[in-house]
Amino acid sequence: MRILLLTHAFNGLSQRLFVELTRDGHELSVELDIHDRVTLEAVELFRPEVILAPFLKRAIAPAVWRRHLCLIVHPGPQGDRGPAALDWAILRAAPQWGVTVLQADADWDTGSVWSSVAFPMRLAPKSSLYRHEVTEGAVIAVRAALARIASGAGPIAPANRTDGQGWQPPVPAARRAIDWSRDATTAVLRKIHSADGAPGIEDLLLERRVRLFDAHPEQRLAGRPGALIARHHGAICRATRDGAVWIGQLKSLEGPQQGLKLPASVAVGAEAQALPESDATPDARGGTRDLEIGYEERGAVGYLHFPFYNGALSTAQCERLRAAFAEARARPTRVIVLMGGPDFWCNGMHLHCIEAAASPADESWANINAIDDLARDILNTATHLTVAALEGNAAAGGVFLALAADRVLARTGIVLNPHYRNMGNLYGSEYWTYLLPRRIGPERAQALMARRLPLGVHEARSLGLIDEDAGPEQSEFRSLVDARAAALAEPARFAAALEVKRAARARDEAQRPLSVYRADELERMRLNFYGFDPSYHIARHRFVYRAPHAWTPLHLAVHRRIGFDAPRGAVRA
Ligand code: COA
Repeated sequence: MRILLLTHAFNGLSQRLFVELTRDGHELSVELDIHDRVTLEAVELFRPEVILAPFLKRAIAPAVWRRHLCLIVHPGPQGDRGPAALDWAILRAAPQWGVTVLQADADWDTGSVWSSVAFPMRLAPKSSLYRHEVTEGAVIAVRAALARIASGAGPIAPANRTDGQGWQPPVPAARRAIDWSRDATTAVLRKIHSADGAPGIEDLLLERRVRLFDAHPEQRLAGRPGALIARHHGAICRATRDGAVWIGQLKSLEGPQQGLKLPASVAVGAEAQALPESDATPDARGGTRDLEIGYEERGAVGYLHFPFYNGALSTAQCERLRAAFAEARARPTRVIVLMGGPDFWCNGMHLHCIEAAASPADESWANINAIDDLARDILNTATHLTVAALEGNAAAGGVFLALAADRVLARTGIVLNPHYRNMGNLYGSEYWTYLLPRRIGPERAQALMARRLPLGVHEARSLGLIDEDAGPEQSEFRSLVDARAAALAEPARFAAALEVKRAARARDEAQRPLSVYRADELERMRLNFYGFDPSYHIARHRFVYRAPHAWTPLHLAVHRRIGFDAPRGAVRA
């Protein structure tokens, strides 16, 4: 089928649908929802059989939905309506939720229902539910809807235009404002989770207006309700009525960093530095875990977890992760598994921290060097075999960091973006000029970098970018990771594999040292950061402040490429 993805942004869900539907043999093009006139033009050019809207912030124009079959992905169960579906589900502690594919109609979410998928809820941030349960459900629901269209079966339920039925408005700010003197820890968590990653909970902190994100329960500390009582790296800890919560990220609503989401201690500044530093806590398995880096061992395998918020790795975080990796290497284990986090494995350098720095160019330089140091340490590990276990998505430098490991495993269902150019033509480093051709060959490497599109796990595996996948359930993936890590750690096999690895590294180093790859890449990056072309700085600024899109790039909008000609007569009314 010819499917036009009409979306506010080419976000994780849209990317996943793009990857899966392309794999199913559909012909796809993407148009960002910028203006009704532009949408109409896209429809004229592409002549889609179905318009699929995975993520919209405004209604589709009647001139479009009256003439074309438009399917909307709604992150709520059948009968639910409104723009804050997941927010309400989290606030009300709904035990079960869902994703529904509806036909666009005159009123918001009132059209015929083509399919719906239910899932049990977790106490988790909205963004995490969206990236996992909603995304998995949406893939199933969209496939089911398309199958019904193809077979002529029609919708599963007719339009429901009954006034206001099922309608839930945007969440009023007062409904989820935190009352620090009264709210218990779970209530605070629920409120912050319901608005994470956007819009965040508005609050007063040290007499400044901020939005709060990334909340975690604290197990041991307590204090006067509402008081700031500790800090731990980027996070600050605030007492509740019956305990305390860690707040990882803040967005200031005033001052020079207004509107920029940052690690809380960076956003708060000097006052955060005055707070007592809290230690990493021992976890139940005898390992250690803090909010960002955790380590555990099972047999001869060490697991390093680094669930950094949004997968972004600042200079300081790289240095801490590198230190944790060095500690893992000093252990009498044989295999180290780099687990990343459940939502993201890694998305490369921390563009928000770079934006907030006094000199973004200098901070970009420091950040890329810090990631390169980490990648080099992984590559030069001669004592252990390393496994990158990608349970969450990875992009840009994060993908290439993973390729520094000896084996790369991925959870079925994640999306990879193995390219840098979407960030203002950034050249990239992380030894990608060595790592990518080493895995997939020089021609394919070049093509992949130029393509600028997301890659699904099946395609990544057939290209040779990853070795194996399992899932989509976390438990299925973790079983694969455990099994493969244990097999690699088996003494006889380990010794042989380590020998092969050492020999290959020595051979490659003799042919062209890693330092030369790095110097060449950084020479290009120096131009991106300090050269006369400001594209990277402009793209980063627009990215971190979520500037609205003004056009759809040609790598997405197939229908806008020169020479594109849609077949006639394909439109379904
Ligand atoms: N640094 C800082 N924040 C990042 C980030 C990075 N490298 N990558 C993603 N994020 C943040 C986004 O700002 C967004 O923040 P929010 O919580 O305020 O919404 C959040 O992560 C989710 O990103 P979003 O773009 O909405 O998610 P997505 O799933 O739709 O897309 C990516 C994921 C990775 C494709 C996209 O975020 C991206 O292109 N990131 C930049 C990658 C990059 O160029 N890295 C630098 C070069 S190494």
